[in-house]
Amino acid sequence: MRSDTGFEQRLAALEPDLRDTVSRVYGADAASEVTRSLVAVARAAHAARPAELRALDERRLREPDWFQRSSMVGYAAYADRFAGTLRGVGERGAYLRELGVGYLHLMPLLTPRPAPNDGGYAVMDYRSVRPDLGTVDDLRDLATTLRGEGISLCLDLVLNHVAREHEWALAARAGDPDRRAFFHVHPDREVPDAYEATLPEVFPDFAPGSFTWDDELSGWVWTTFNDYQWDLDWSNPAVLREFADIILSLANLGVEVFRLDAIAFIWKRLGTDCQNQPEVHDLTRALRTVARIAAPAVLFKAEAIVGPADLPAYLGVGEQAGRVSDLAYHNGLMVQVWSMLASRDARLATYALQQLPQPPSTTAWITYVRCHDDIGWAITPEDASRVGEDAYLHRRFLADWFAGDFPGSFSRGARFQPDPATGEARTSGTCASLAGLDSAPGVVAVELAFRRVLLLYAIAFAHGGLPLIYMGDELGLLNDASYLAEPDKADDNRWMHRPLMDWDAAELRHNSATVPGRLFAGLQRLVAARRATRAIHVQGEVEPIWTGNDHVFGLCRAQAGERLLVIGNFTAEPQPVALDALRGFPLTDAAGDVDGRPVERHADVVVLAPYQHLWLADE
Ligand code: GLC
Repeated sequence: MRSDTGFEQRLAALEPDLRDTVSRVYGADAASEVTRSLVAVARAAHAARPAELRALDERRLREPDWFQRSSMVGYAAYADRFAGTLRGVGERGAYLRELGVGYLHLMPLLTPRPAPNDGGYAVMDYRSVRPDLGTVDDLRDLATTLRGEGISLCLDLVLNHVAREHEWALAARAGDPDRRAFFHVHPDREVPDAYEATLPEVFPDFAPGSFTWDDELSGWVWTTFNDYQWDLDWSNPAVLREFADIILSLANLGVEVFRLDAIAFIWKRLGTDCQNQPEVHDLTRALRTVARIAAPAVLFKAEAIVGPADLPAYLGVGEQAGRVSDLAYHNGLMVQVWSMLASRDARLATYALQQLPQPPSTTAWITYVRCHDDIGWAITPEDASRVGEDAYLHRRFLADWFAGDFPGSFSRGARFQPDPATGEARTSGTCASLAGLDSAPGVVAVELAFRRVLLLYAIAFAHGGLPLIYMGDELGLLNDASYLAEPDKADDNRWMHRPLMDWDAAELRHNSATVPGRLFAGLQRLVAARRATRAIHVQGEVEPIWTGNDHVFGLCRAQAGERLLVIGNFTAEPQPVALDALRGFPLTDAAGDVDGRPVERHADVVVLAPYQHLWLADE
């Protein structure tokens, strides 16, 4: 096929911006040559783009807010753990649709190195599919099937590093200087030591240090994560060109969204923590511009699990607004909902979330409760001190609480990468286990546990953004200890919250006497409530509000004259909220429908049941 007029118009409109962006990263001298090579990639990919996907491009250009709508709900899963193979995933479309899913993120499925491979995040070949999952044809078929059901496919794009068995790494080891220049290699410890003076460690337990000696390279190669994951040197424009090509060839199979894995780490600067550098955003912008020209249906989702000060830049601030990633994980919201659950206190969350800017109107947060990774307790001293807390003590408390080590804790998670010096730790565990479902000693405790799960999801669904359900949360799947028997996984307890899909539990989803039944129905009510609430459309505004009761979190949304107020009780006791605090929202019986419990209204107050959330609409 040839390029069409749309392509030529987009190229003419966007090429100057591409050149400017490239020139900020690689300098004015290199800009023309690099831009020319990227345009060549875009042109070839567009020429090969199937007619059906070109039609999708047109549709998305006409309806650019498709992923921002209140009807949009996402689901994240490992293909093998969810359904065995890619074909198996395609056969589960009906289940996903029943849950209301319109976006499916499948964790890494391109060919990784043999285990250990960090759950597939050590890719050996970006052009083939993990053999046990299927083939490239199966991937194309899956994307096509899902698209036919109204589900957009999102894939991981691991771009900070490749497996040390990737052909680029093999060539580097064999002495190819061009490929060696794809990596950060240093002959002795001088430069690594200088960097490590300010570099935090990501996996201090099982992968200490950020450089690994390689005999064949005769050098220290940068390895932020595991020693078998070699960081790419993005200051080499050939790396950018390769990834532009990889993205567009996957896009031509029907992949619509790319999760930019560990994107915060791709640019290194001496004397810094080598995260969130300005070039990260320019590189994202360059890739996105190339995709906009060749395959405008494509979206980028930034996986930057960083502190609140660094997060907004991934959706773009100032001149970059709306020009970098279209989606980014709202790590701050995720951390704060769990923090509220443990502390039974909404003040820190309210203050911290009030400080975040509204996202650019063409973008959206991914609002989520759990994912396949650990939870890092990104609580800052500025936010904590504002509400009279000590950030360090609070982070310690959260690590202890969710490991089940704090008096009164209902949680059954585990510490991930604990720091023996400070006692701080990140947290592993499934949503249900962290919420207390497996420690629950009776009917009442079970009831409280699944109410907690639904409360957290209610905040994620009402916040505005693209909410993401992590596989198994809809059924209350508990921690899975089977990873301990697998040598390649045993030292990484993130596997405890990566269970196999329990299709027997899924069979119970219509039985309201069971936990899966109640959770599944609870999430379906959330999906329906979102759909019916235009104020949740991302382009509206979100404002966390003070409810006058420290145990009750409040979130107000407004969009095009419609407003929504959601208030949630983060304790196991009834909590009153003064009607005066409801900002003029009418309190009707319908406010209890999403939670599924009646509204307890008195003359001046409404009393929320344990972990109850109320949805008040105002048109
Ligand atoms: C991302 C992934 C995580 C992985 C890391 C390195 O953070 O979500 O699972 O370990 O990148 O690729």
